[in-house]
Amino acid sequence: MTIIEAQREIAKILKEGGVENAMNEARFLLQDALGCDSVQLVTGYRDYACTSCVETAFDWAKRRAAGEPMQYILGHTDFMGLDIRVAPGVLIPRPETEGLCELLANEAKVRKAADPASRWPARILDLCTGSGCIAAWAASAFGDAKIVAADLSEEALAIAAENCRNSRIELRQGDLFGAVGDGLRFDAILSNPPYIPSKTVDGLDAEVKDFEPRLALDGGPEGMDLVARIIREAPEYLMPGGLLLMEIDDTQEELVRSACEESGRYASFEVLRDLAGKIRNLKARI
Ligand SMILES: C[S@@+](CC[C@H](N)C(=O)[O-])C[C@H]1O[C@@H](n2cnc3c(N)ncnc32)[C@H](O)[C@@H]1O
Repeated sequence: MTIIEAQREIAKILKEGGVENAMNEARFLLQDALGCDSVQLVTGYRDYACTSCVETAFDWAKRRAAGEPMQYILGHTDFMGLDIRVAPGVLIPRPETEGLCELLANEAKVRKAADPASRWPARILDLCTGSGCIAAWAASAFGDAKIVAADLSEEALAIAAENCRNSRIELRQGDLFGAVGDGLRFDAILSNPPYIPSKTVDGLDAEVKDFEPRLALDGGPEGMDLVARIIREAPEYLMPGGLLLMEIDDTQEELVRSACEESGRYASFEVLRDLAGKIRNLKARI
């Protein structure tokens, strides 16, 4: 079977399973199964594909057609240009979370412009690290920074260990700041905690609800259980002038504003929208 014939057959399986963009997804599956990139795939369309690779791609297509997320099937995904390993038990990093990284990168640029000798941020905490995608990015973006990446889930931390091989990243297990312990302070705390209201989780697409860990998604009745705790507790772990950057739900603007005001510890805070115009992030400074 040639590569293009295999791609068409795989796209057919995907389409029958209700997958949108079946031809595109077929291309991704084939690329990984054949171990080639998109250019090699296109230029080699008329070449015969290795039989066992095509069989692998067909098996993957059947799993995809049954609703399993592509990233779990392939075992990896892209985040901020890094190839991040993922597996069931860990949330698949989302493009939206890249916005959190960009907020930190922009803040570092502003501080560098004001003081060219600035090495800010020297210490970063990635709370609720999951796959470790944010910590792995931070290690690559800030060459001197020391990073602590924490999560409650041992399963998630096992995957994070594969993504966070940089010796400047320390992985810790525990309930939010309980994993960090007393005495440590950071220039920036980044967190993408579980923030989806429980009822909304129940109504999510099967692809998310049935495959991704509920611990990574469900933030309690209003989605605020962990968000509120992080807003309350983060100041104890921030250096003077330090930043809390957090991903939040579109429904939480007022709740998040109130939590920041009630804390009384933030010198300033902003609730920010993403490029799609949705409420997406909290940026708070002590
Ligand atoms: C939305 S996921 C974020 C994963 C990753 N940072 C990302 O952006 O792709 C939330 C993570 O919080 C972790 N988590 C849930 N409850 C926690 C708690 N009480 N303390 C620490 N981590 C927790 C989950 O295990 C999950 O890995």
